[in-house]
Amino acid sequence: MNFKLPVSSTESFDLTQRPRRNRISESIRGLVRETRLHPGNFVLPLFIQENSGSTPIHSMPGQFRLGPDALLKEAADAFARGIRAVALFPVISENLKDPKASESKNPKGLLPRTIGILKENLPALTVITDVAMDPYSSDGHDGLVEQGKILNDETLPVLAEMALVQARAGADIIAPSDMMDGRIGYLRKALDENDLRDVGILSYAVKYASAFYGPFRDALDSAPKSGDKKTYQMDPANVREAAREVELDVREGADMVMVKPALPYLDVIAHVRSLVPVPVAAYQVSGEYAMIKAAAKQGWLEEKKAVLETLTSIKRAGADIIFTYFAKDAAAWLVRSQD
Ligand code: PBG
Repeated sequence: MNFKLPVSSTESFDLTQRPRRNRISESIRGLVRETRLHPGNFVLPLFIQENSGSTPIHSMPGQFRLGPDALLKEAADAFARGIRAVALFPVISENLKDPKASESKNPKGLLPRTIGILKENLPALTVITDVAMDPYSSDGHDGLVEQGKILNDETLPVLAEMALVQARAGADIIAPSDMMDGRIGYLRKALDENDLRDVGILSYAVKYASAFYGPFRDALDSAPKSGDKKTYQMDPANVREAAREVELDVREGADMVMVKPALPYLDVIAHVRSLVPVPVAAYQVSGEYAMIKAAAKQGWLEEKKAVLETLTSIKRAGADIIFTYFAKDAAAWLVRSQD
């Protein structure tokens, strides 16, 4: 063909800017790398059950509901790999669930007992607990339900009692994931008035009504019995609303704020990072985990590379803290790669 092509030899084609020079070798790529993952930024979510031993979670291959002994082993293992925080989610048996989530106030319940075991055996491990009614509620909602409506102000005392039980049991940080209005201020006040001033609040400030929580709800048997969570969790289409939520929560006393899920909301993470001075967490949720696991099992994705890429992206977007079910694997891979 007689096309006219530009000359590309360096003598006559003066290309002074060659970004590829900074990618020439692994060591140079290491020098110019802008984002590095560290196990110290990971939080490992753990599901806990009454019975000893462990029960596999089918929709989350590699994750288990852990009995007290198995949990302690898992947490110690994570700690040895450099992970310094866990988030606990209790599986409550159906016969203990009621519309008021009464079991959440039981100081001898599964969660407070587990917190005690962890703090006794691994005092340097930070224990984060979820504050929301859903695992304890026979309605499967995060707040009180009346004629199909989720009540806001009436839910706050329930959340506060639950949070106080968790904090008294030794939780270092409570993490309200319920999305009721005003709960951060209410919980901060409740903690302060009960001499629990040092207990931090990580607010699930920007929590979307997401399809990606499906496997988690299987893990806890906590799916709503009727309706959905759209009157309290956020519309995935919105980002200005995220600004409003984080600003309110920081004003009300949140020590850290979260965006959840993570990968489909990187723009939101970046926006929130630029708006508030407090640390930003992101939660790589159960559905994000399940997607990678399922594709890897088929041989369609290389699990390690895909996981580290997603975690790096979440951190690059602006997350200081990453909740991830891959925390233990990722920590081990990072040590080996010395990246
Ligand atoms: C409970 C809660 C949920 C998750 C964390 N806390 C589920 C929900 O809101 O329905 C989801 C975590 C995950 O999917 O990994 N309020």
